[in-house]
Amino acid sequence: MKFVPLSQSGRPLEYRPEDFRLRSEPSLPGKWEGEVRAPSNIALVKYWGKKGLQVPMNPSLSFILRDAVTFTSATAERIPPADEVRFTLRFEGRPAPAFEPKIHTFFRRILPYSPWIRRYRWEIHSRNNFPHSAGIASSASAFAALALLVVQLEKEATAGQSDEYWRAKASFLARLGSGSASRSITDRIGIWGKHPAVPGSSDFYAVEFPFGTHPAFDDLRDLVLLLQEGRKAVSSTAGHQLMEAHPYREARIRQANTHLARLIDALRTGNWDEFGTVTEAEALSLHALMMASDPSFILMNPDTLKWIEKIRRFRRRHDLPVYFTLDAGANLHVIFPARIEDDLRRRMPDLFDVPHLLSRL
Ligand code: DP6
Repeated sequence: MKFVPLSQSGRPLEYRPEDFRLRSEPSLPGKWEGEVRAPSNIALVKYWGKKGLQVPMNPSLSFILRDAVTFTSATAERIPPADEVRFTLRFEGRPAPAFEPKIHTFFRRILPYSPWIRRYRWEIHSRNNFPHSAGIASSASAFAALALLVVQLEKEATAGQSDEYWRAKASFLARLGSGSASRSITDRIGIWGKHPAVPGSSDFYAVEFPFGTHPAFDDLRDLVLLLQEGRKAVSSTAGHQLMEAHPYREARIRQANTHLARLIDALRTGNWDEFGTVTEAEALSLHALMMASDPSFILMNPDTLKWIEKIRRFRRRHDLPVYFTLDAGANLHVIFPARIEDDLRRRMPDLFDVPHLLSRL
């Protein structure tokens, strides 16, 4: 299913936050069990900076990491309504108190839209099929999965809404847990944030890329080089705050909007050069913004720079489409079409000697 909400006249429909409030009392079961899965995603146009409650400063675009998935199951048992949402969490089989504050915040933020969640005690079990500390966005898949669970129960207990509505609500709720999680509720290419070139786009939830993509981008790989040891020096939440008074804030907003338009064209026309130019410019701009923040952060390490150089040199020498992107950390995402994987393995074998994670995009 292509997820672009359409009105009855066939025009793209944009939900407002109010549309996600309950219209009628759901008929809630006494006990409920559910299980969902949600993938992580990698942004090519980066979300960096917010205004208000999880509203992005600029639109972003990401690909789903199809092989980096969170599996979450829950048992919900009716209780008299509590002030706070009651839950226990086990992550990979063990209690995970470190994750609890963010989940409490998530539940608190989604209460106005799904107030019935206070009427259950939730027992949540979650696991990832990728190492948690690998520096790939586990909060994106984790909050997307939690939002899907809530929406699944609400959907079963409510009549009369479309699949598009539930997808949009799941993305809307996921966003309140972690902004990038909104884009994990899409099939492949997610766009979150209003942009004039994207019909139906919204600051409040992500939509699926509403255009055809050129076959050149049909089968992509992301080789995530795990170059980072330990925790990042800055959390993305703290990083977003640095954009509030950033000297380059306005220029960044313009740049992200332009980059998104250029990337959309590249994806539609099969222009690898343009795809790569924009993707790398985004990654380096994100890091440049952090370097120029107050306080300033350098999140790349010498290995990141070494591999950036090697990839650029390799690309020039062999004229093959291999590009990189970065998140707010030192790990390098190497992106290329599946058809050149063998070439890469043969001609740059040390690339695959680095501890890594390989995912389909
Ligand atoms: C650099 O979604 O982790 O990965 O909304 O505060 O949870 P919060 O931030 P988060 O930020 C992700 C930043 C990024 C770029 C991106 O994924 O778009």
